[in-house]
Amino acid sequence: MNVPLLDLKPQMSGFRSEIIEALTELVDSTGFILGPKVDEFEQAVAQYCNVSSAIGVSSGTDALLISLMALDIGPGDFVLTTPYTFFATAGSIVRTGATPVFVDIEYDSMNMDTEQVAEKLALYRKAGKRIKAIIPVHLFGQCNNMQQIQRLAEEYDLFVIEDAAQAIGAEAPFRTNNETQWKKAGSMGTTGCFSFFPSKNLGGIGDGGMVVTNDEKLAEKLRIFRNHGSAPKYYHKYIGGNFRLDPVQAAVLNIKLPHLENWHQARRTNADTYHNLFKQSGLSDKTVTLPPAIYGGENDNAAHNHHIYNQYVIRIKNRDSLRDHLLANNIGCEIYYPLCLHQQKCFENLGLNDLTFPIAEQTAAQSLALPIFPELTHEQLQYVVEVISDFYKAG
Ligand SMILES: Cc1ncc(COP(=O)(O)O)c(C=O)c1O
Repeated sequence: MNVPLLDLKPQMSGFRSEIIEALTELVDSTGFILGPKVDEFEQAVAQYCNVSSAIGVSSGTDALLISLMALDIGPGDFVLTTPYTFFATAGSIVRTGATPVFVDIEYDSMNMDTEQVAEKLALYRKAGKRIKAIIPVHLFGQCNNMQQIQRLAEEYDLFVIEDAAQAIGAEAPFRTNNETQWKKAGSMGTTGCFSFFPSKNLGGIGDGGMVVTNDEKLAEKLRIFRNHGSAPKYYHKYIGGNFRLDPVQAAVLNIKLPHLENWHQARRTNADTYHNLFKQSGLSDKTVTLPPAIYGGENDNAAHNHHIYNQYVIRIKNRDSLRDHLLANNIGCEIYYPLCLHQQKCFENLGLNDLTFPIAEQTAAQSLALPIFPELTHEQLQYVVEVISDFYKAG
């Protein structure tokens, strides 16, 4: 049996004619920069996330970069984030001239440890250094403890830039007007950043991204920034860039967005199936640690329904041998991420290589993403668990 980590073909073939029709309309219109397809998609995402504004940009990376730029973050500023994430999170901070400050992650959720966030903020304040923003990364499709981050952001007057690249549609409990409600990833911070990289739950046919916000003034500034900082045309108020979302991507994403909730649900069902099959396999939790759905530091049954499982990441001890074994048995898998950001060569000159974050480093050595995409069959999931089970039982 063959179980790829991700196979986009079954999903794409279902939309083939609709997509070709939308792209033909676009070609015939010759409106190749921004335009009605992008407007439509921005409105649909704003409605889906329950925010007032959505600004289509060229990628998730650029969504982060433009958020930082529009919030005037630059040289001399510190931005707090996690060392266990995709490179773009810290890469965008450094590209503005600001300095990333890392805190370790929680063992279970693999998201930033908010107790350590509180400690780091207090430490910097004491040293007279101001952390200006925090970037919580909702890793693998599960939100951070946003209530705690909200409390700290108020206490320390921080901008919150949610890196929701992997988490469009995920939810977390959040306080609004003294009432706690489940809110969508990206809608809780100063800005929220999405990626439409093809492997995301909502993926385009190339690169694309979005910034969402409830701050109308900031939204206006972001729109100017994505167009070289120009308003009106050829009069440059800011040094922005070309960060525009391509209407080709918007045309495809408009077609896919109405199906997103069903795909999230199919991924949750696959996560349930893995959970049950691993329990039945007799492998102990210590041999294979499954990813729990966690909110506010507590395991909550309801939390499961708010995780979008962009990735299903297990922890195992002899990870590299298991990975080789899975690949030899035609099962796709991937290491997200083999090296933490503070350990990256390109950050050596910032002195980040000397830091240590034990949980993040241990996770980088033990984590392995298994196939979780919506169209997987029960037999395929069964095969994955059988092959893993045989590996540990034989060894
Ligand atoms: C956590 C995180 N942040 C940012 C990005 C950057 O998104 P993009 O690839 O669209 O630039 C990604 C993409 O994989 C990501 O996973």
